[in-house]
Amino acid sequence: MSAPILVTGGGGMLAHALGKVFGDEVELVARDLLDITDPSAVTHAVRGRRAVINSAAYTAVDNAESHESDAFAVNARGAENIARACADASVALIHVSTDYVFDGRATHPYSEDSPTGPICAYGRSKLAGERAVVTAHPAGTRILRTAWLYGASGPNLVATMLAKARAGERVSVVTDQVGQPTWTVDVANRIRHVLVAPPGIYHATNAGFCSWWDLAVAVYDSAGADVSLVEKTVAAAFVRPTPRPSYSVLGDEAAHGVGLPAMRPWRDALNDALRTDFAV
Ligand SMILES: NC(=O)c1ccc[n+]([C@@H]2O[C@H](COP(=O)([O-])OP(=O)(O)OC[C@H]3O[C@@H](n4cnc5c(N)ncnc54)[C@H](OP(=O)(O)O)[C@@H]3O)[C@@H](O)[C@H]2O)c1
Repeated sequence: MSAPILVTGGGGMLAHALGKVFGDEVELVARDLLDITDPSAVTHAVRGRRAVINSAAYTAVDNAESHESDAFAVNARGAENIARACADASVALIHVSTDYVFDGRATHPYSEDSPTGPICAYGRSKLAGERAVVTAHPAGTRILRTAWLYGASGPNLVATMLAKARAGERVSVVTDQVGQPTWTVDVANRIRHVLVAPPGIYHATNAGFCSWWDLAVAVYDSAGADVSLVEKTVAAAFVRPTPRPSYSVLGDEAAHGVGLPAMRPWRDALNDALRTDFAV
């Protein structure tokens, strides 16, 4: 019998949901036990596995702008280490990636083969990771791009807005960036299906889209807070080190092509998540 599926970045937000969905089929290995920038440690950890889910990443988007080489070390070369080890040991790899590989200037959903064009260092490092894993392990890699994640563990907008709603705080949230709020548990469930799908790129986001302001209003509303406390603003009003894509909507043609149903609408997922992960 092979060892449990290895989940790298085991202390992270998505890893937490993978643990919940897969139970003892997976082993969550946090960074202090496996640093993916260490090729020999990666080789050792991968041996004997049925599959590896790489959810380790340098995810500090703003920091990446001034520490691009650190982001590349993890998101590109670390990912490559995993793919090489998986190729050598004939182990299937799910590599988690992001909507930030696109430029966010589209007006209709990005498909899996839409041209990429990241507008920030984090996005460039994740795109380099995608290319590296496919080059190192073409026959055994599934890239799963997701976006706007939230869940029980880790900082995310839903958790932040819920805390503010419960405190009755007034907030200003942007209306001019749209995307697909996506529950980590739904991504973990989609990964279960993608594991047995043909190699390739798959998008995994909850269906529909909304602005960050819409999402904040939904959270305030669900929490029974006064939605008039959620004020509208625009991205230009915030000075941030990193530009964010203004349109982050992913199509799911590849998943559809292998017979997977669309993921459920973001509002349905949010309702479930608020109840189960956030005790609303
Ligand atoms: N969050 C989102 O909205 C979002 C959207 C699209 C795609 N994604 C992608 O989804 C995946 C999971 O993200 P997440 O939201 O779960 O992020 P997360 O909570 O930041 O988890 C990432 C984990 O990777 C670990 N890590 C960092 N460097 C590492 C290294 N060198 N070796 C091993 N582990 C390392 C981090 O540990 P430390 O905390 O100790 O650094 C952290 O536990 C990533 O590939 C990310 O790019 C996320």
